[in-house]
Amino acid sequence: MYERMLEAAKKASELSYSPYSSYKVSCAILLKSGNIITGINIENAAYSLTICAERCALFRCYASGYKKDDLVSMLIYTNRSDSMPYPCGSCRQVMVELFGLDKDVTIVNDKERPETYKVKDLIPMSFTKEHL
Ligand code: THU
Repeated sequence: MYERMLEAAKKASELSYSPYSSYKVSCAILLKSGNIITGINIENAAYSLTICAERCALFRCYASGYKKDDLVSMLIYTNRSDSMPYPCGSCRQVMVELFGLDKDVTIVNDKERPETYKVKDLIPMSFTKEHL
C-alpha cells in the first residue's frame, strides 16, 4: 500500500501551486475503501492564505463525505532530497481533530527513506474537544 500512496503523492506533487516557495508538498490519504485522496500545497500572493498539502487532503476527504473512521493512513511527500516534509503545527492540530491520534503518518522525500509516526507522537498533549 505504501507504494500506491507514494505513487499517488508523487503524481499529485506535480500539481503543487507553490510559485513563492518553490517547495512542493503533497499528501496522500488512504481510505478504508482502498481509494486514495490527495492534497497539495496551494500558495497565495498574500502568503498567510497558503494552505498546506495535509490540510488540503484532509479537507478534501471531509468535503467528499468521509470522516475520521474512514481514513486509514497518511503519507506526506516532497520531491526534494535535502529536506523532509515534516508537517507544520497547524496541520498536526487539524490531524488530531480530523484524522485521529492513533493513526500513522509517513513522511518521505525523494531519497525515499520514509519515517512513520503516530499523530499522538507528532503532537503530544494536544488540545481536543474533550478540553472544552
Ligand atoms: N507546507 C505544507 O504543505 N505542509 C506543511 O506541513 C508545511 C509547509 C507548504 C506550505 C508552503 O507552500 C510551503 O510548504 C513552504 O512553507
